[in-house]
Amino acid sequence: MTDTVYLNGDFIAKEFAKISVLDRGFLFADGVYEVIPVYRCIPFRAEQHLDRLFDSLTEINLASPYNRQQWLEIIQQVIQANLNTHGENQSIYLQVTRGIDGERQHVVATPLSATVLVMASALPKSNATLTPVKATLMEDIRWHHCHIKSIALLANTLMVNQAKANGFDEAILHRQQQLTEGASSNVFLVRQGKVYTPPKSQHILGGITRDLIIELCIEAGLEVFQQGIHIEQLPGADEIWICSSTREISPIVAIDDKIIGSGSIGPVTKRIAASLLAFKSQLLAD
Ligand code: PDD
Repeated sequence: MTDTVYLNGDFIAKEFAKISVLDRGFLFADGVYEVIPVYRCIPFRAEQHLDRLFDSLTEINLASPYNRQQWLEIIQQVIQANLNTHGENQSIYLQVTRGIDGERQHVVATPLSATVLVMASALPKSNATLTPVKATLMEDIRWHHCHIKSIALLANTLMVNQAKANGFDEAILHRQQQLTEGASSNVFLVRQGKVYTPPKSQHILGGITRDLIIELCIEAGLEVFQQGIHIEQLPGADEIWICSSTREISPIVAIDDKIIGSGSIGPVTKRIAASLLAFKSQLLAD
């Protein structure tokens, strides 16, 4: 059984999906992407993911090749085409590049036709039991437009691979000592019952999971502060977690050689992870 991908209007077996070497995505990482989790065939927070996709496209001056309804239809068709391989819970990867030029040239001389790829993969099991992870602090070496979900992920992959090589699960990043985010996640910190996370800016990707977690924290009566966090505040935190669409919530129990809180999963982390799970179950039950 093989995956089916959507490539520029066609549904084809993944191994036969090919793009030109002159695609600007391949040559210049000139494109943007989204990752959308799917539960029981329903793309989760699809509207918010599409909003962010349209924002990313606007930021790079690329017109969306499809409207919202067309995107939703393509995504649903990819989900259906991959039911036999991945089941009802999937992770949808969607990428738009500026397209194929006549030769490799920095300047786009004539309007090109965007390249669109949508594919599915298995979604990691939902976080009913939280898996504690260890992180390492690293200087954020990325550019200053991290709010764009750009396919240029070399800095992110270099940092997380270095973290992995040193025995850590994620790189937590800082810019001039100010916490930004994880290499592929957003970061939250709990201190004395209050929740803190860096504010949205050009230095972080505004995560869809981050937004939902803030809503859930407020609903749970917790105070949430979206404000600058100095890295010296990290070791003094009672709890830290990272989050993303695919990993949901991962408790951070140590950063480098510093144990966070009690070194085990904290009560606020457990509570918010349970709220997230309940929110998803409720949505699917409706
Ligand atoms: N990445 N920050 C960065 C740098 C990310 O790459 C991601 C997610 C997030 C969390 O965003 P969201 O909650 O919308 O998933 C934050 C995806 C999962 C990826 O690149 O695979």
